[in-house]
Amino acid sequence: MKIGCPKEIKPQEFRVGMTPNAAQEAVARGHEVIIETGAGLGSGFDNDAYVAAGARIVDTAKEVFATADMIVKVKEPQAVERKMLREGQLLFTYLHLAPDPEQTHDLLASGCTAIAYETVTDSNGGLPLLAPMSEVAGRLAPQVGSWTLQKANGGRGVLMGGVPGVGPAKVVVIGGGVVGTHAAQVAAGMGADVTVLDRSLPRLRYLDDVFGGRFKNQYSTAGATAELIQSADMVIGAVLIPGAAAPKLITREQLSTMKPGAVLVDVAIDQGGCFETSKATTHADPIYEVDGIMHYCVANMPGAVARTSTIALGNATMPFMLALADKGWKQACQDDPHLLAGLNVHAGQLTYYAVGKALGIDVVSPAMVVKA
Ligand SMILES: NC(=O)c1ccc[n+]([C@@H]2O[C@H](COP(=O)([O-])OP(=O)(O)OC[C@H]3O[C@@H](n4cnc5c(N)ncnc54)[C@H](O)[C@@H]3O)[C@@H](O)[C@H]2O)c1
Repeated sequence: MKIGCPKEIKPQEFRVGMTPNAAQEAVARGHEVIIETGAGLGSGFDNDAYVAAGARIVDTAKEVFATADMIVKVKEPQAVERKMLREGQLLFTYLHLAPDPEQTHDLLASGCTAIAYETVTDSNGGLPLLAPMSEVAGRLAPQVGSWTLQKANGGRGVLMGGVPGVGPAKVVVIGGGVVGTHAAQVAAGMGADVTVLDRSLPRLRYLDDVFGGRFKNQYSTAGATAELIQSADMVIGAVLIPGAAAPKLITREQLSTMKPGAVLVDVAIDQGGCFETSKATTHADPIYEVDGIMHYCVANMPGAVARTSTIALGNATMPFMLALADKGWKQACQDDPHLLAGLNVHAGQLTYYAVGKALGIDVVSPAMVVKA
């Protein structure tokens, strides 16, 4: 198969869909890999690294789209990219179609087959191609939060781990899923005093079994949150209610109960944020203050560490990408129901129910499509 990887063109996107290592694995299996010049630079991979892996470099995205049987990307195709997709071409990338009718209609009109990273599943009920980015955002949260806690950045001037004779920072993590667990691990590793709140008892049992000695956990109620935030130096918002906007768990009124210069890191900002005073910010201008409390609300946190994020995403996507290349999308999806769960669009038909419901478009069963 001819596998093409264009340079990402969405503003502030430095990741790339294919690492040189993934390219090398595909080439070793007899596939041809075509990379747009400079596609990997934002993640620290130059053209030479791809050439050494056996890939071919081309000058333009147009050439990549014109030549490839499968396009592997990171972000949803932008309008100019969607115009280059063609009937029968396979697209493997993040799509997030439900809130994006324009993209959905363009993909349907193109006749391509589109498999969305975010809806591929695993046998534990998880989302294996979303998890790596949650891991990155979670581990990054205490890092950016501790920077914000520094005096010059508007914070309380508290060191995460304290020093001998001075206690550590108090960190509260709301939501103990993928983001929250990784955030708590890093905050505890920095020496902070960490408490994780979650509403799932099985999850709290898991956290207690695995991390009991390293951070505390507590059942999440409005009362517990109100009490804990009064003494917190940093609160990390990491909740998710699948398919819904994030619940607002700290109100503006409650900010006055917190210590001046305390920091809120709202990782759930991509779902609307879990603090009433959160509004999405960018890496260029990540923090702002409300009523004496510092807020960090960057919606695409993994972009700050593009190299780590690219490699982490590549590790997770590569087995699926190779299966698609080796077998063709139809056979690969017949063999793997988790990959089939990623099928969103095929030949002008929508194949993902939640997207159809959100956009009022008829949906064809993906199982029917792969059997046809
Ligand atoms: N900003 C970014 O760059 C970025 C990157 C990755 C993920 N995210 C976002 O981070 C959020 C968390 O993602 P995740 O992968 O950890 O999800 P997850 O499903 O693994 O975990 C969410 C957790 O929240 C818990 N929860 C739900 N309601 C709660 C409540 N009221 N109080 C306490 N806990 C509650 C759930 O029980 C679950 O354990 C999502 O909104 C996701 O989109 C943002």
